[in-house]
Amino acid sequence: MDDFVLARVVHVLGVVLWIGGVAFVTTTLLPALRRLQRDGEDAAPMFERLEGRFAWQARISTVLTGGSGLYMVHVLDAWERFSDPGYWWLHAMSAIWVIFTLMLFLLEPLVLHKWFAQAIRRRPDSALALIHRLHWVLLLASLITVAGAVAGVHGG
Ligand code: HEM
Repeated sequence: MDDFVLARVVHVLGVVLWIGGVAFVTTTLLPALRRLQRDGEDAAPMFERLEGRFAWQARISTVLTGGSGLYMVHVLDAWERFSDPGYWWLHAMSAIWVIFTLMLFLLEPLVLHKWFAQAIRRRPDSALALIHRLHWVLLLASLITVAGAVAGVHGG
């Protein structure tokens, strides 16, 4: 297996772990927690424990995906693709990566964690609903990006 193929394998495994996790949180975990909260239980501690564990998986897979992606651009010497609108999926991949990297490494630990802990104590239903909507936006953008990237790479 040459370096490029290895990088592609790492890239796709990173994407599967990361976006698969986002899909689980969005379609399963958050709806279940919202129902618990509606039934009168305090969903906040469970959300923080579970999302905290997933945040580490997401951080590691984000680094693997970004590193392998940049390595592939370097090996292909494909930097000029960034100025070609036909490679919109490359821009989309990079944008999604930047958004998640900022969220996971800067905004979440520095700002969002504290904000969410306060918001969920004061208005648990609307805080969870907002988090759920945000996850849907990120998940849909990620899925459109994955579809565009696979079609783009394989000549679609
Ligand atoms: C810094 C961020 C990223 C860079 C620089 C990057 C770069 C690349 C490159 C160079 C390729 C191979 C293109 C080719 O063979 O012509 C690729 C493939 C791909 N990337 Fe990314 N990527 C990044 C992030 C992401 C993210 C966040 C996702 C998912 C949302 C993603 C999903 C994919 C997929 C699904 C493929 C197609 C794999 C295949 O079918 O062989 N990438 N990426």
